[in-house]
Amino acid sequence: MTTTEQPTTPATPPGIGGIGHSLRRREDDRFLRGAGRFVDDIVLPRMLHAAVLRSPVPHARIASIDTSAAAALPGVVAVVTGADLAAHNLAWMPTLSGDTQAVLATDKVRFQGQEVAAVIAEDPYVAHDALDLIDVDYDTLTPVVNPRQALADDAPLIRDDKEGQEGNRCYRWEAGDREATDRAFAEADVVVELDTHYPRSHPSPLETCGCVADVNPATGHATIYMTSQAPHAHRTLFALVAGLPEEKIRIISPDIGGGFGNKVPIYPGYVVATAASLLIGRPVKWVESRSENLISTGFARDYHMHGELALKRDGRILGLRVNMLSDNGAFFADAQPTKFKAGLFHIVTGSYDYPAAHVVTEGAYTNKAPGGVAYRCSFRVTEASYLIERLVQNAAYELGVDPAELRLRNFIRPDQFPYRSPTGFTYDSGDYARALRLAMERVGYDDLRREQAEAREQGKLIGIGLASFTEVVGAGNHKEFDIAGIKMFDSAELRVHPTGKAILKLGVRSQGQGHETTFAQIVAEELGIPATDIAVQEGDTDNTPYGLGTYASRSTPVGGAATVMVARKLRDKARVIAAHLLEAAEEDLEWEPGRFFVKGTPSRGVTIQDVAFAAYTNFPEGLEPGLEGVHYYDPPNMTYPFGSYIVVVEVDAETGQWKVRRMVAVDDCGVRINPMIVEGQIHGGLAEGYAMANMQFITFDEDGNCIGSNFMDYLIPTAWETPRFELDETVTPSPHHPIGAKGVGESATVGSPAAYVNAVIDALAHLGVRNIDMPVLPHRVWAAVRDAGGSGGGEQGGVPPAP
Ligand code: CDP
Repeated sequence: MTTTEQPTTPATPPGIGGIGHSLRRREDDRFLRGAGRFVDDIVLPRMLHAAVLRSPVPHARIASIDTSAAAALPGVVAVVTGADLAAHNLAWMPTLSGDTQAVLATDKVRFQGQEVAAVIAEDPYVAHDALDLIDVDYDTLTPVVNPRQALADDAPLIRDDKEGQEGNRCYRWEAGDREATDRAFAEADVVVELDTHYPRSHPSPLETCGCVADVNPATGHATIYMTSQAPHAHRTLFALVAGLPEEKIRIISPDIGGGFGNKVPIYPGYVVATAASLLIGRPVKWVESRSENLISTGFARDYHMHGELALKRDGRILGLRVNMLSDNGAFFADAQPTKFKAGLFHIVTGSYDYPAAHVVTEGAYTNKAPGGVAYRCSFRVTEASYLIERLVQNAAYELGVDPAELRLRNFIRPDQFPYRSPTGFTYDSGDYARALRLAMERVGYDDLRREQAEAREQGKLIGIGLASFTEVVGAGNHKEFDIAGIKMFDSAELRVHPTGKAILKLGVRSQGQGHETTFAQIVAEELGIPATDIAVQEGDTDNTPYGLGTYASRSTPVGGAATVMVARKLRDKARVIAAHLLEAAEEDLEWEPGRFFVKGTPSRGVTIQDVAFAAYTNFPEGLEPGLEGVHYYDPPNMTYPFGSYIVVVEVDAETGQWKVRRMVAVDDCGVRINPMIVEGQIHGGLAEGYAMANMQFITFDEDGNCIGSNFMDYLIPTAWETPRFELDETVTPSPHHPIGAKGVGESATVGSPAAYVNAVIDALAHLGVRNIDMPVLPHRVWAAVRDAGGSGGGEQGGVPPAP
């Protein structure tokens, strides 16, 4: 059973600034002044610089590498090849999906941009100049540039390094019940099909990836400053891969200029810089360029999807069948829990209640960069959400039912939670109809439909696109979720100092989400210490408790819950000390934000600051001094934020141009800690969703050359293109989270692409258009109209060339 509440009213006064206050982000002060400290700001004495030589071709055998001219260049300290690393057993490293990935290529190169050699020099410019002097002889091989080509019988074998690997399939995995789904389809009146591709995209954070590795030759201690979303897990993996003692590795993830999943994998550059520092005995910095970031580090998406939805004539959904083929690139390096080969794609059943689903997913090796990161989503949920929302929209056209009405008929009802989906997820809470109805009200849905019908009569095209998404965030529980075998719990350590100020140390790591503000607010809520008196520390493995890091919107559901729990532990202890100070029994004390007082005598009380001082100066006999603690939180389940988005577009069929007129987003992430920050997260996600629907994708030509290796080709929307967003909210707390919060960081990117695309399709649906692949570029719209026999093309004729 789900309870839906009104938007959060703060329980604490503004001076304390607990949950529900839109406190300004305290970290912005240094960011806006240009005073953040990012990896590239770190300069150490005697520091060297690494630059990486990358393959210009996507598939080739390496016949020879001659490094002599590069090594002779003044200022070059070392030139490193795969053979050099192989001597230390470091030429290959494990990926987060249990595959192997070349650090520097020894046998073959398998994608354009793959790391082949590295130069370590006194100066970054010398290091880059020396790359031109390395002579590599490549025997080129046929490139494999899409997964269907990869699975063909005559495809060249990409991973001939792997013993027993036959063909280019890297996994096959199923979920759901095949027989039950077949039965559902046999009973269907209508079956709707969709073949679509979610194109390869890139998180492209403002700050590219890099590190400064500093291995002290005297002590053997390695301090590695790294653009890492998961410093603790990275430390453990470094220890396992390099054989370094873990207590001698300190990973510091300083300010991070955006991650979006891109800073979860371990990249060859980190390994090369660390190995070089170890061998040379001096610090080594490696920071990649924008193009290196785009062509070689963790991409996202690239799913070819075929979905079928079975329905009764009355609109009831009976079942879903999905076949998905992912393009994994040359190494299976997706960041995801080991139990789920295709991430959490099997949440593809969406927000709807039906008995049967069957999902088959396959992945193929191709000659492209590896990655498959959770780009602002939980492990491939974006693709899943996109597919089901496109299918439901098309089903509405097939049945002649309004798309909103079809959704309302099939939503999981509030009284069905906790809801077990046909592919095995247990949704915690939701009120999907409420969110959709609110969005419809906000946008003026019925009036818009009338306007759309009238506009059509005049030859004008207006489209109204919907998406009612369910996201799954906050991994674990530990039984089902791990990264490279490490269970997905998280932790918080809280120390209240004698003067009542506090420091909170976390296992998660903000990359711009405002943790320094919001996590302080959680402590403020629980202990009544003003949020401004609470420092939040993250990202230093020597000084924070172990955690799995920040991605897939897990900070609030897991790290946030750990924070609540540790603060409550401290409040319990504070009560004992307060009773001692007030000479009263503990059960006679009442709590109000920041203060204990004797029941019935509110004037007889002590503040949390009094208690903190007493914890070090005047504590009861036998009580352990101090006011600090740690909590490791293993969530019982994921949290399931959701929302309904409605996009209104105008489409010009003559040119294929489309323009967003309205974008209404109703989100439900349970209790909002900081409403302003939540809105900021949603704005960012909606902009990213718009980018994917409209312009942002990486493609490859038939020779395997990456197109989209710079910001002239890989289009990031600016404020100029980005539409205006109208936000609203419902509040359905997560029943198992200690303050009822769900994550939100990913939701809007997950939920919105389908709404944008559905809006364009909706404008053309009466012409019979059912599919335009993302990104919805003008020439694709134009061709869809022409193929549907509409008016597209005008007098000019011919399809405009693809970009
Ligand atoms: O893991 P990540 O920080 O990317 O995602 P998140 O847990 O969804 O949180 C993103 C930001 O929104 C954080 O600063 C959260 O504390 C904040 N947030 C919030 O204020 N209330 C929520 N219910 C969820 C997130």
